Amino acid sequence: MSLLRVEAVTMRFGGLVALDRVSLETVDRGILGLIGPNGAGKTTLFHCISGYLRPTAGRILYRGRPIQGKRPHQVVSLGIARTFQIVRPFSDLTVQENVVSGLGKPIYPRLRAFLERTTRPPIQERAAGLMARMDLGPWAQVRADTLPIGLQRRLEIARALATEPDLLLLDEPAAGLTSGEAESLARLIRGLRDQGITIVLIEHNMRFAMGLCDRVVVLDRGKVLAEGPPEAIQRNEAVIDAYLGRVRGQDEGRNEG
Ligand SMILES: Nc1ncnc2c1ncn2[C@@H]1O[C@H](COP(=O)(O)OP(=O)(O)O)[C@@H](O)[C@H]1O
Ligand SMILES: [Mg+2]
Repeated sequence: MSLLRVEAVTMRFGGLVALDRVSLETVDRGILGLIGPNGAGKTTLFHCISGYLRPTAGRILYRGRPIQGKRPHQVVSLGIARTFQIVRPFSDLTVQENVVSGLGKPIYPRLRAFLERTTRPPIQERAAGLMARMDLGPWAQVRADTLPIGLQRRLEIARALATEPDLLLLDEPAAGLTSGEAESLARLIRGLRDQGITIVLIEHNMRFAMGLCDRVVVLDRGKVLAEGPPEAIQRNEAVIDAYLGRVRGQDEGRNEG
């Protein structure tokens, strides 16, 4: 049984079919890449899995149990964490405070009070451990909004890890990163995989995705166009036509989508 199975999920927004009977399953303790052009439905699928949207039809099974329609906090408590395409750290808090916020899942207006109650060692030690996993230790006391985008993305992942997920959904973690930053992020993501976390990674940067993923699913206009190991996907004619060919031309000097 796969940790996560998506079965024929359809998501309609009025007349627009953003997902059309999409099915996939995770590579357990591995990295599944979800790629495809802008507007293919990748983020919408993450919203469905993480409880931000209720699919119009289909089932999402986590550990064999249906989770579609559950609320985001319920999904988190089952062991699924996600990051967002647009980073959303608490900008006036430090890196460490942001990570601590993930440990308690507090509501923002009460966060300061929460932080004051939680200066005791166990929480601070856990926060230090999470920052170390994402190589954020040197920036612990720095305000989150002063960090470059590469470090903000690592902070997002550290905050997601604070909920102790077995399944981690990463939405374009390398977008906007330099190739050096993307390389070090890839190393950190491999480290999480090696620690036993199952990962689904949305990516627009082909080189980043192909070097990192154990398996790849290609979405195009809401449908699964192809699925397989990265080498086969790179050679797949339909994928080259629908996506890689287009992106190769567009991607010159650009990382973000
Ligand atoms: N809340 C929404 N309401 C209406 N249309 C939406 C909404 N969210 C996404 N869409 C549409 O669904 C399609 C898929 O979007 P998205 O999942 O963001 O694509 P991707 O992440 O692959 O770029 C797009 O056509 C987008 O405009
Ligand atoms: Mg998206």
